[in-house]
Amino acid sequence: MPIVNAKEMLLKATKEKYAVGAFNVTNLIQLEAVVEAATERNAPLIIQTSVTPSKFLKPEVFGAIYQTMAASAPIPICLHLDHCTDVAYCKTCADAGYTNIMIDASKQNFSENINQTREVCQYCHELGNVSVEGELGTVSGIEDQVKVAEDEAALCDPGEALKFVNETGIDIFAPAIGTAHGVYKSKNPKLDFDRLAQIAQLINGDDPKIPLVIHGGTGLQPDVVKKLVSLGGSKFNVSTDLKHSLIDTTHEYISSHRDEYNPGKIDMAVKEAIKARINYWIDLLGCADKA
Ligand code: 13P
Repeated sequence: MPIVNAKEMLLKATKEKYAVGAFNVTNLIQLEAVVEAATERNAPLIIQTSVTPSKFLKPEVFGAIYQTMAASAPIPICLHLDHCTDVAYCKTCADAGYTNIMIDASKQNFSENINQTREVCQYCHELGNVSVEGELGTVSGIEDQVKVAEDEAALCDPGEALKFVNETGIDIFAPAIGTAHGVYKSKNPKLDFDRLAQIAQLINGDDPKIPLVIHGGTGLQPDVVKKLVSLGGSKFNVSTDLKHSLIDTTHEYISSHRDEYNPGKIDMAVKEAIKARINYWIDLLGCADKA
């Protein structure tokens, strides 16, 4: 398939009321598992890397692998840089072949968040087929280098949201509505559904222009996920779930096969486990057969 950016893919999802899974990967086995599962379900896909795995494998290596895989895949696939707080590294990844960049200046004050986000938008838009995600309010928990304590988390102000979108030129918007990165302490975290609905109405009305992102997918109950999608969330981020799957499966495999020294067998076990999780999310988000 031709390389597409996330905006086009997500506008279709917003209009048709499903969400695309945006899955964080840290290595090649996870990457392969995610692509294989999405291909089998004919689902559009966003692969994400946080900054640390991106730097570990090198952005140009991730970019080249992604471009090769996406060009031959029968489904649309994007490569997204997740929660990058460094404007220069956002530009490096856009140059390296990422098709979607998240500049996370949400811990800065409002005007500095606008300035940094606008700078990344201008760079990516001049480059061509690269869309940009910005965040307003702060999502609590830990995602790679971004750590936000519970008492530091702030929900997105709807009035500011409209100004932020207009003044930055972002393509995709992540409003903080109470979801959190990592494992939720409660089975029913307090989410502000009304705020999401209000922001969706203000920004998109009946004519979607700026797709909305839900961060902190891991651990949300299925009915909550469906409600967030019905209110306009069309990019659904999942990270911790896949990290747990990778580590738990590796641990279980090694513990029960102490005489096995073929690393490919661990990889196969991990791949199957990750694929099962991706299938779970594809069903929940309603994106099967939407490629
Ligand atoms: P989880 O780790 O809670 O799934 O959150 C993922 C995320 O929002 C990545 O940006």
